Amino acid sequence: MKNKMWGGRFSSKTNSLIEEINASIKFDHHLAMHDINGSIAHVTMLSECSIIREGEAKKIVMGLEKIRSEITKNEFEYKTELEDIHMNIENRLTEIIGPIAGKLHTARSRNDQVATDIRLYLKENINNTIVLIEELQKNLAQQALSNFDTVMPGYTHLQIAQPITFGHHLLSYVESLSRDKSRFIDSLNRLDECPLGAAALAGTSYPIDRFISAKALGFSRPMANSLDAVSSRDMVLETLSNLSILSVNISRLAEEIILWVSSEFNFVSLPDDLTTGSSIMPQKRNPDGAELIRSKAGRVIGSLNTLFIVLKGLPLAYSKDLQEDKEPLFDAIDSVDLSIKVMSAIISDIKPNIEIMLIAAKKGYSIATDIADILVQELDIPFRESHKIVGSLVAYAEINNKGLEDLKIEEYKALDERITIELVNRISFDNIIYNKLSFGGTSPENVEKAAKEWLKKLNA
Ligand code: ARG
Repeated sequence: MKNKMWGGRFSSKTNSLIEEINASIKFDHHLAMHDINGSIAHVTMLSECSIIREGEAKKIVMGLEKIRSEITKNEFEYKTELEDIHMNIENRLTEIIGPIAGKLHTARSRNDQVATDIRLYLKENINNTIVLIEELQKNLAQQALSNFDTVMPGYTHLQIAQPITFGHHLLSYVESLSRDKSRFIDSLNRLDECPLGAAALAGTSYPIDRFISAKALGFSRPMANSLDAVSSRDMVLETLSNLSILSVNISRLAEEIILWVSSEFNFVSLPDDLTTGSSIMPQKRNPDGAELIRSKAGRVIGSLNTLFIVLKGLPLAYSKDLQEDKEPLFDAIDSVDLSIKVMSAIISDIKPNIEIMLIAAKKGYSIATDIADILVQELDIPFRESHKIVGSLVAYAEINNKGLEDLKIEEYKALDERITIELVNRISFDNIIYNKLSFGGTSPENVEKAAKEWLKKLNA
């Protein structure tokens, strides 16, 4: 059988391999509802501009609504020989309302049609991802508030650096997620133009009004250049970039959770329902969820790369290469949305092992920098000098297998006789944490305030 939609000038049927490589229905059926909405907006505009009769438009809309309900009820049969979602729907429309269905494609091409569908799909899904990001931020801020004074070691180079609060660590991710969110919001502005009516590439001689269909679909205006409208996919690249950055950010939290639940760290525990077992080692409780979040980032970046490479050097206007934008996009959105949901569940149920984190925070001479700061303040010496003094203090403590806070005043004085008992008394682990009051610093007071502010903002 020749293709029903475009087979007029063909004398033989399409090779089945070409049919197979050409078909996108396996994945672009995800666009079905957007395609129907786009068609309704288009046909309504055609009738308002007296390009088709009102009665014809009504019939087409009625047929499209019937198809919508068939799809919703899973009664719609997608056919590979009809290639893509656009022709599957148009073909079914013809079956339902007869040859009048053929008027739907007046002043339109699948090129502007698919570009419109993708933009509608992006709008919907970006808004959905934004909601999921906010959920995760809330869970992080809530957990941060519960742990505003839970002490843990802060790391640089994965070496214990300085004590921080667990709440502070969690709020760090609330901040990066808010930038992730704002990137999506920015992208919605650039998405706010409608390609419909660009037709194949050149526009059309029918007296259409693209502002009507753009408005009906919730766009602020039509895209200004018909070639750009059908050939650009930078909005998909932008979304994939935003998804990649977001997934990289949460992969870092995933990695930390994987470290924290290991018996070496044992900083946090996950409930049974968020861990998995081993088929051979009966004792195991594995953080598979976090591991998969970590790895999904690779998959999402792969999708971004795929589309970069598809688009690089592609001449204007439409080429079938553009059909390859969909699978990476759909997969990336699904992967990221699932990752955020899993991360939200993990964060809301994670239990910090407070004692263990506190013990760890005291290891690794983590208060050395703060002792150096105290020396600067008490002895009025340059920081470089106090850095050196505390360096020898650490070396002495290490050789003698002692913690810095265990050293006696005599031991301090042996290293530098200016050190007084009042100075040594200031060296308290708790004071050190509570004094980190600089803006954005880790003191419990700061963290409690920041967590409350975030929760207020997120619940508004
Ligand atoms: N399935 C196609 C795509 O996803 C729709 C546009 C087809 N256009 C064409 N001129 N063959 O890009």
